[in-house]
Amino acid sequence: MKKIAVVWASQTGNTKEAAEMIAAEIGRSEVDLFEVSREVALRLPEYEVVIVGTSTWGMGELPYGWADAFGALNDLDFSGTAVALFGLGDQFVYGEWYVDAMGILYGRFVSRGATVIGAWPSEGYEFASSKAQRDGSFVGLALDADNQPDLTRERIRRWVESIRPHLG
Ligand SMILES: Cc1cc2nc3c(=O)[nH]c(=O)nc-3n(C[C@H](O)[C@H](O)[C@H](O)COP(=O)(O)O)c2cc1C
Repeated sequence: MKKIAVVWASQTGNTKEAAEMIAAEIGRSEVDLFEVSREVALRLPEYEVVIVGTSTWGMGELPYGWADAFGALNDLDFSGTAVALFGLGDQFVYGEWYVDAMGILYGRFVSRGATVIGAWPSEGYEFASSKAQRDGSFVGLALDADNQPDLTRERIRRWVESIRPHLG
């Protein structure tokens, strides 16, 4: 069985809640769930699959937890790691920066050698721009607990199914 970590930063609890739902949906007792910190980041290369969760704050910025850990990622090698990302944001109020932090983390993990899995279609969202969009899709699962909370559970279910072949 592959070693799987779910690692998140959350300022009001929305990303934490989504992380717990994703871990439950994967449905294995040995999924390790962490709130990110520099120390946690340093342990992530031990895992074969890392599921990375972030909200976006400011105008397109990382939340505090990932901002603290971001520098540490630069010293790490993720060339043996499959990384799947999920991001929470508010597409209506912050539609110019919707889930930007997921795009920022995508860039950093790719630059450290990770294979990113779990791209997600951008249909069903209304936003002006997003750093998390590549070739018409999101680089990971986009969630919006502010405006579309009723869609979260089903989006998580479908997304976990889409990455399940990589989970071993
Ligand atoms: C001051 C403030 C700034 C925000 N900036 C953004 C943003 O730039 N882009 C975005 O998509 N969402 C933005 N949001 C929305 C949050 O990302 C969203 O509420 C998210 O669910 C919070 O998750 P958390 O509780 O896990 O931190 C912002 C919210 C607040 C209150």
